Amino acid sequence: MCGIFGYCNFLKDKDRKEILEILCNGLARQEYRGYDSAGLGIDGDNPGEIVFFKEVGKVAGLRKRIAESNINTSKTFSSQVSIAHTRWATHGPPSTVNCHPIRSDPSNEFIIVHNGIVTNAAALRQVLQNRGYKFESETDTEAVAILTKYVYDSQPGKRITFPSLVKTVLKELEGSFAFVFKSIHYPNEIVTARRGSPLLIGVKTEKKLKVDFVDVEISGPDDGKAVDGFVPTAPNSRLAPPAPKISRRQSRNYMSEDGMPQPIEFFVASDASAIVEHTKRVLYLEDDDIAHISDGQLHIHRLRRNESGQAETPATRSIETLEIEIAAIMKGKFDHFMQKEIYEQPESVVNTMRGRVIFDDYRITLGGLRSYLPIIRRGRRIVFCACGTSYHSALATQAMFEELTEIPVSVELASDFLDRKTPIFRDDVCVFVSQSGETADTILALRYCLERGALCVGIVNTVGSTISRETHCGIHINAGPEVGVASTKAYTSQYVALVLMALQLSEDRISFTPRRRAIIDGLRELPVQIKKVLELDSTLREFANTLLANQRSLLLMGRGYQHATCLEGALKIKEIAYMHSEGILAGELKHGPLALIDENMPVIIVMTQDSLYPKVQSAFAQITARKAQPIVICNEGDDGIKKGVKTIRLPKTVDVLQGLLNIIPLQLLSYHLAVKNGFDVDCPRNLAKSVTTE
Ligand code: G6P
Repeated sequence: MCGIFGYCNFLKDKDRKEILEILCNGLARQEYRGYDSAGLGIDGDNPGEIVFFKEVGKVAGLRKRIAESNINTSKTFSSQVSIAHTRWATHGPPSTVNCHPIRSDPSNEFIIVHNGIVTNAAALRQVLQNRGYKFESETDTEAVAILTKYVYDSQPGKRITFPSLVKTVLKELEGSFAFVFKSIHYPNEIVTARRGSPLLIGVKTEKKLKVDFVDVEISGPDDGKAVDGFVPTAPNSRLAPPAPKISRRQSRNYMSEDGMPQPIEFFVASDASAIVEHTKRVLYLEDDDIAHISDGQLHIHRLRRNESGQAETPATRSIETLEIEIAAIMKGKFDHFMQKEIYEQPESVVNTMRGRVIFDDYRITLGGLRSYLPIIRRGRRIVFCACGTSYHSALATQAMFEELTEIPVSVELASDFLDRKTPIFRDDVCVFVSQSGETADTILALRYCLERGALCVGIVNTVGSTISRETHCGIHINAGPEVGVASTKAYTSQYVALVLMALQLSEDRISFTPRRRAIIDGLRELPVQIKKVLELDSTLREFANTLLANQRSLLLMGRGYQHATCLEGALKIKEIAYMHSEGILAGELKHGPLALIDENMPVIIVMTQDSLYPKVQSAFAQITARKAQPIVICNEGDDGIKKGVKTIRLPKTVDVLQGLLNIIPLQLLSYHLAVKNGFDVDCPRNLAKSVTTE
């Protein structure tokens, strides 16, 4: 999805070259989110001048365009603000004119970058066009830029403050978004706001900040109101003439000991990975926060107040310390992030278990769930809700949850769950699994369940993300940043986290002790076994380069625990190798898929040894009888498989964990298929890492 980056320096000399470099790096760090054009807007040589650079395609192309321009890169700014964006096209194709920053008019009075979708943009556009405003792009964002100018122009004396102006605009918008606004009317100020799309602000100072939080300012009652009845789709429009009554206090933490303003830099981004190379001190914005950066100070306002006049969220936003290291977002010795992340799995699964499993005592402690365990155990059902790979991790552990908790479990795709308006009750436990913690459908499903009073649990990788903040309790999977769009290490860590959750829930059941112990023993062996599977890398490259090289389709079959493995493996192959692939429940073979089988149809069958082995053997017999020549994923030492059959042999583990090993060859296979075809492994076409729109 789109990526936002904004940079502000105050009393800190930066030449234009450095500023452009900071902006381009900020975008490059967010490339993995998926995008198809990139742009930025910086101050020109004269007051009131803004210079844009925009390019369809990659950030590298944007850098090239800048290098080829004749802009004076040595001009120094002691204070300035600039904004940049990677766009993933929704309204209008990738093109320079649709690329952000989007301007309100040819003199660039207001320029904005935007993530998400404004759902009433068409109505706003119509009204603004009727009032004579001209549009140049197809974006929903332009309606917001022009609306901002419209509101500004309608102010008597144009004395509205920048945050009040933005507040007035935001009140007219429907949908989900994150914005950064810059304007020639408010030099060296930016306003940034979010609803449903992540935003964080990094703060860099030479001296320590005085306090580790920023107050949320509650503005005067008239603030942010303008002209009534402007937008027809918003009958309760609150546009009315402004009365900017914000009390401008000196922000407490941006002064040095002597009370003087100190040099400071701010970095606004959709993603922590764009900030960590500058500073680890960050503040996450909440939905409906409006942050205003001006004169080296950061002020936070709320879009709405509750009836008692108080903000509904806490009255401060704390400045937190990022725990990620810069090395975690670099490729190191690997060719691609996906490859690095596949290879990190022996460590990432350990990080998921770190401090949570005491192997010698067979004890699990999930701090984030502890006080909710009795409620979960009393729940009448567990409903998992997720998208993509995260959905598969829930599917992979469903049977184990049913076995160990004896609570009915359903696994839902978040989009379908919402489409069906599934009944949810107070005694349901709803578990939201998400790597990013920002997937729009999963967030909407979470809010749906919160409204219905269910206990909501998050299984999330990204600390500070919306799902991690809005759930009642949960587990951070601690897999570390995942950059490749195709999820790999997050899958295995989600899987492990879910296993830990099921084990923890069953700890009061004596009859399950031997089973729990076997699983915990299996977890202990996992890192070593994953390393062994990774040794098969060259065999898998060979399969990708020979047997499967020119195929158009690949079927993956398995049953029981391995059904999820097949679905996830097929997803990987589709995502990055652009090859049709289907995960098939082997039990369903006779009900349709068998018709596809002949000597030309490539098949991988997962036949590791669990209680369903004989049934998978029968599926194997049925497809080979129809001349298929499947590649078999099986356990080391399984000599029930005929000579001459191509095998991928993996270490054996307990049935519930076998899927953790079985998925790795499929990750590697998809990787090599993509590399062989010269595809962009980390940023596959049309896909985004974090899908923040419905
Ligand atoms: C996108 C990504 C997938 C991911 C899915 C769910 O489709 O490309 O890799 O599995 O979203 O994302 P989440 O962050 O909620 O796990």
